[in-house]
Amino acid sequence: RTPTAILSALAEEQQGLIAQLQSSRRVHHAGRDFWCGELHGQPVVLGLSRIGKVAAATTTAALIEKFGVARVVFTGVAGGVGADVQVGDVVVGSGFVQHDMDASPLFPRYEIPLTGQAVYAGDAALTARLLQASQAALRSAPVAGYRAQVHQGLIASGDRFVNGAAESAALVLALQNAGHQPLAVEMEGAAVAQVCADYGIPFAAVRTISDRADDSAHVDFPQFVSAIASVYARSIVMELLLL
Ligand code: ADE
Repeated sequence: RTPTAILSALAEEQQGLIAQLQSSRRVHHAGRDFWCGELHGQPVVLGLSRIGKVAAATTTAALIEKFGVARVVFTGVAGGVGADVQVGDVVVGSGFVQHDMDASPLFPRYEIPLTGQAVYAGDAALTARLLQASQAALRSAPVAGYRAQVHQGLIASGDRFVNGAAESAALVLALQNAGHQPLAVEMEGAAVAQVCADYGIPFAAVRTISDRADDSAHVDFPQFVSAIASVYARSIVMELLLL
């Protein structure tokens, strides 16, 4: 029974899951804490990447190389940039692009050099399960005050907290000009997707929208993360492991 990795960037996103973990054992490796144990009787490793693409890539490589995980599921928060993606909604990633990758004119903008691809798709079967789990979680444990609609689409990652309406609009426009329609921005997903693709490990990600990546993102983000993010992450992952 090979474990499933549940990866988060922030401790707040992981707390609810650690509280549910059975037979838990903490392992310190590569400057991070990993939690091994069982959820719903299934072996899992909870990883905490901290923020950004490099941190996420290192953590993913450790989960695969040291802990031998069979699949990686990312749960966290993101800024909503799709027109109808509101705070409290959930975005399940269908594909992942690095919005700060630009080796032009040597390679097309956004393309990961020497791979011929800009967008890494989530694993189809795992992503379908994650979508179903997200819908079930939000139905059975809605959070008051949010409509909690579930979307599926492109997630754009980069080493920037997007905190301005003008910046967000420019980022989206540039992606659209290259044929990409992002629903959400965050700082890890596409890096994890690339590492998992290199290793041939299935990957899927779900992000709860904490802010609109606009001028008030820095106010909305911490409030949402401390109040809501761990609730969503826990209920979605627990549903996923039942499917
Ligand atoms: N994660 C949550 N909100 C974000 C934002 N506005 N930019 C980047 N990552 C985020």
